[in-house]
Amino acid sequence: MKTRITELFGIQHPIIQGGMHFVGLAEMASAVSNAGGLGIITGLTQRTPENLAKEIARCREMTDKPFGVNLTFLPAITPPDYPGFVKTIIDGGVKVVETAGNNPQKWLPALKEAGVKVIHKCTSVRHSLKAEAIGCDAVSVDGFECGGHPGEDDVPNFVLLPRAAEELKIPFVASGGVANARQLVAALALGAEGINMGTRFMATKEAPIHDNVKQAIVAASELDTRLVMRPLRNTERVLANAAVDRLLEKERALGANLKFEDIVEEVGGVYPKIMNDGEMDAGVWSCGMVVGLIHDVPTCKALIDGIMSEAEALIRQRLVGLAAS
Ligand SMILES: Cc1cc2nc3c(=O)[nH]c(=O)nc-3n(C[C@H](O)[C@H](O)[C@H](O)COP(=O)(O)O)c2cc1C
Repeated sequence: MKTRITELFGIQHPIIQGGMHFVGLAEMASAVSNAGGLGIITGLTQRTPENLAKEIARCREMTDKPFGVNLTFLPAITPPDYPGFVKTIIDGGVKVVETAGNNPQKWLPALKEAGVKVIHKCTSVRHSLKAEAIGCDAVSVDGFECGGHPGEDDVPNFVLLPRAAEELKIPFVASGGVANARQLVAALALGAEGINMGTRFMATKEAPIHDNVKQAIVAASELDTRLVMRPLRNTERVLANAAVDRLLEKERALGANLKFEDIVEEVGGVYPKIMNDGEMDAGVWSCGMVVGLIHDVPTCKALIDGIMSEAEALIRQRLVGLAAS
């Protein structure tokens, strides 16, 4: 299937693996890219530009296909070495960057000059239009269903995607809540040029995370995610667990007085314990409502091939058939 996104990134299928903290390592990114999608290494998980350079080199040993790097811009007292990360991406010959969090404008001239394509992840039409105006090549439109940070507007993809289609000229992919062929076809019908998946790719054989996490995803239903940190205007969708219960109790008790320090035990530095050690109640971790649609742990190739062949059958048989009747 050819779309503006496959053409832009030089990939076979219009399927992207979104950056994921402590999941988007070289094993994950290369498996998605080898299967014809676009795999993405999560920059900040590597902590330093030196480590990121090694991870890019490791990924290149595992695939000769295009892959990208995610750069998440977070408010921080001591910001990560973003100039160093950008230089490492350029020096490492990476040709796609997925930006997220704050406006990436400051980094675009250097990236564009080096021929790097930038896809910015946005949770609203106004942010998508801003991304287009500052020169991003594409947008990942992240609906309210998404795992991770859905923003504060709470617009789900059934409305957000066609709204993006009304306004945007640059291509966009549907992000958040996507796991299967039906949804790819729907996303295309709603105006997207492909899909971006996070949670679905965690439950794959190659995802370099503890099996407990994959089994928790398979066991969960679409009712099992919670929104945390709303009072801090830093909303995150996570899988329900004991740490989430504790955090929500603190939110209730402290109300408008809640500060980040109050919940640091539940959110600070917990990812290695969950993703590497499989301690499922160690803290809160991003997870989308799409868990309700995830019932197995396939290889990335089986997942992507299945989505593509079913999508093409759906278009040819069901949709063309409906149009003719
Ligand atoms: C465990 C996990 C960690 C994530 N970490 C990041 C991150 O560090 N940076 C980022 O831009 N997005 C992050 N995301 C968001 C994904 O890239 C993607 O936008 C999101 O998962 C899409 O929604 P879905 O999970 O419903 O597919 C994360 C998502 C998950 C599930």
